[in-house]
Amino acid sequence: MDAKARNCLLQHKEALERDIKTSYLMDHMISDQVLSLSEEEKIRNEPTQKKRAALLITVLLGKDNNSYISFYNALLHEGYKDLAFLLQKGLPLSSYNGKDPVDGVTSYVKTVLCEGGVPQRPVVFVTRKKLVKSIQEKLYKLNDEPGWVTVYGMAGCGKSVLAAEAVRDHNLLKTCFPEGVHWVSVGQQDKSGLLMKLQNLCTRLDQDGAFSQRLPLNLEEAKDRLRFLMLRKYPRSLLILDDIWDSWVLKAFDSHHQILLTSRDKSVTDAMMGPKYAVPVESGLRKEKGLEILALFVNMKKTDLPEQAHSIVKECKVVGRGHRGILADLLHQWNQPQ
Ligand SMILES: Nc1ncnc2c1ncn2[C@@H]1O[C@H](COP(=O)(O)OP(=O)(O)OP(=O)(O)O)[C@@H](O)[C@H]1O
Ligand SMILES: [Mg+2]
Repeated sequence: MDAKARNCLLQHKEALERDIKTSYLMDHMISDQVLSLSEEEKIRNEPTQKKRAALLITVLLGKDNNSYISFYNALLHEGYKDLAFLLQKGLPLSSYNGKDPVDGVTSYVKTVLCEGGVPQRPVVFVTRKKLVKSIQEKLYKLNDEPGWVTVYGMAGCGKSVLAAEAVRDHNLLKTCFPEGVHWVSVGQQDKSGLLMKLQNLCTRLDQDGAFSQRLPLNLEEAKDRLRFLMLRKYPRSLLILDDIWDSWVLKAFDSHHQILLTSRDKSVTDAMMGPKYAVPVESGLRKEKGLEILALFVNMKKTDLPEQAHSIVKECKVVGRGHRGILADLLHQWNQPQ
């Protein structure tokens, strides 16, 4: 990682080791694919919270810029606002020189997405241009008006990756959401979990504490605070709600705003007011995309893959899993006695 990022981590090592609880942070980093499961296990096996935190920092110091950004986003997501603030100075944005934008990804886009907590692309990534374009067309339709764009499809079909990809676009951000995007990983929640998500989001939106010092104490207050913050501070931004399971959860985020959400259930927005657009994602990555991912993983040309690769991808498609599923199957096959 950049010297600036490294120094910043070292400078604040003590505060980080003292305050962070590693488990949720590591979940984010695993899903960003910057931390491996074996590293996570090693850290988890340390006897105390402080030792776990210390080992996580040590492991992080040996990693790249993306890992630093992922850790920073994880801190923001988990409500460690002050610690994230300390690491902000070290964010390796200098590598985003913007000279050579690929697919509309300029330094501006990278900064906006990093600040908004949008997950990075998977390390092994294949494009799904048609679907991305379809989501973007719907987002353009929101055009400053409150409304909903729902990306739906079965588990593991790539909804979250697609939602992140759709906003990775200079023109879309400049035109429709010049005040940025705010990504929230929602998931299945009970009332207290939901309150915590809303509190974290309000904290993120009000980093300078201009509107209130105190966290909202209940769901009603949190909902009102969110609406107020969105309206006053970020009227031209996009709220992205990833992995919504229930419409009552969605209602809590209903801030009369522009919202992009992912869900396995298309009907979650049925009870919501305002314009609604939906983008279906077919179950599983298509066979060709599956083969492309597999080829990237094993570093071979798609055309050179053995016959078994087709069966593996077919099997993964049936159960609607992404490349983790593909890899798991592959490893399983390798481990079978010949
Ligand atoms: N375009 C892609 N290129 C490479 N890998 C991908 C792509 N899209 C998805 N994946 C991988 O497939 C897996 C599932 O993707 P993702 O998390 O986006 O699915 P999802 O539909 O949001 O799942 P869930 O319903 O569980 O939230 C992830 O490991 C992800 O990295
Ligand atoms: Mg998802």
